[in-house]
Amino acid sequence: MNPTNNPVPIVVLAGARPNFMKVAPLMEAFAADSDISAVLVHAGQHYDYSLSGQFFSDLNLAAPDFFLGAGSGSHAQQTAEVMKRFEPVLDQVQPAAVVVVGDVNSTLAGALTAAKLGIRVVHAEAGLRSFDRAMPEEINRVATDAISDLLLVSEESGRANLLRENVAAGRICFTGNLMVDSLRRHLQRAMKSDVRERLSMAGERYGLVTLHRPANVDDQSQLARILEALSAISEELPLHWPMHPRTRTRMAQSGLALPEKLFAVEPLGYLDFLCLEANCAAVLTDSGGVQEESTVLGVPCLTLRENTERPATIEHGTNRLAGTRTETILRAWEESRGDRGKKRIPPLWDGNAAARCHQAIREMLGIVQAAELQAR
Ligand code: UD1
Ligand code: UDP
Repeated sequence: MNPTNNPVPIVVLAGARPNFMKVAPLMEAFAADSDISAVLVHAGQHYDYSLSGQFFSDLNLAAPDFFLGAGSGSHAQQTAEVMKRFEPVLDQVQPAAVVVVGDVNSTLAGALTAAKLGIRVVHAEAGLRSFDRAMPEEINRVATDAISDLLLVSEESGRANLLRENVAAGRICFTGNLMVDSLRRHLQRAMKSDVRERLSMAGERYGLVTLHRPANVDDQSQLARILEALSAISEELPLHWPMHPRTRTRMAQSGLALPEKLFAVEPLGYLDFLCLEANCAAVLTDSGGVQEESTVLGVPCLTLRENTERPATIEHGTNRLAGTRTETILRAWEESRGDRGKKRIPPLWDGNAAARCHQAIREMLGIVQAAELQAR
């Protein structure tokens, strides 16, 4: 029950592929709450059907109330475009809070726009730190957290990092991992996908690759070093690679050829990707979300990076930092052979993160249970 008896308007912002799995369970929780009226805004940072529309369908996520169509551009252009287009929506909706998720440019743009209008900002997946400021996402994380009023943390490291940065403990809430909520909700459906038949790989033992970090794919010699390692691994285990458009462009520009047993396909929908991920022998990735999902699925994961902002996936899960040089990747590959079955699920990666986020947001908004009111 809220003090005015009118539903409190809030805005939830998503912009790019990894955001959709995080907002879907949140929107579901808000939909069941008559005290809150949640408006979904899609910034349009990702716009191809294979990076955007497909996920609304796969996640049973209703179409956004507003589509900003910000599109691609330099960091400044993209961030500014989201801000310019988001501000009038906030003026129109007059929300009591804006919820942003993850670490993409849309996340920071949404947080900045809201904070400057004096609207409270809630950041889900707060506190993650790679401690690598060369990563655009790290700047987005640090800056978003600095102006957020409520910081919803997905793993224990998030709380420790925020406390170290002198964020007041009362603003931090350890809610668990929204990505895992979506995984648990949709895994059964995903397992029914016929993606392996469609890709002519039914019955095959295979590995799954995703790569899109600028540090790995924008630099031609770096991309070549990774390809050399993948090529050697693919001799032993055929590799399937749903290729991100950034990477596809860089591959085409570089003129590098794919080895025979490294199969590139278009980016996959969520259910198809989850099916391949759950059934593969190993994943090789630089994705944040894939590190988390493979931990929950118990699938060995080699992270082709020098660091991770998700240490719980190493501490508890199946993740292993493989570095980005040919020899470090191949060494990690050798060492990873015993990783299957080494599986502990990090605390609060239990499928109920959205319920805890929802409750924390209600409390921030001053909405209390009817039973609680009667007891007063
Ligand atoms: C963005 C995020 C990254 C996240 C990734 C998830 C930032 C700084 N980066 O990286 O954190 O891990 O999304 O996938 O926010 N493009 C298309 N179609 C689209 C969208 C983009 O072809 O629908 C192409 C465009 O050429 C664009 C390029 O991909 O220039 C990069 O897109 P962008 O959103 O800027 O960055 P990502 O690499 O996708
Ligand atoms: N994913 C997908 N299709 C693909 C590759 C990834 O559905 O072809 C999903 C994956 O299951 C995970 C999310 O995309 O839920 C991760 O997003 P991404 O790797 O783009 O971004 P990051 O997590 O690195 O920010």
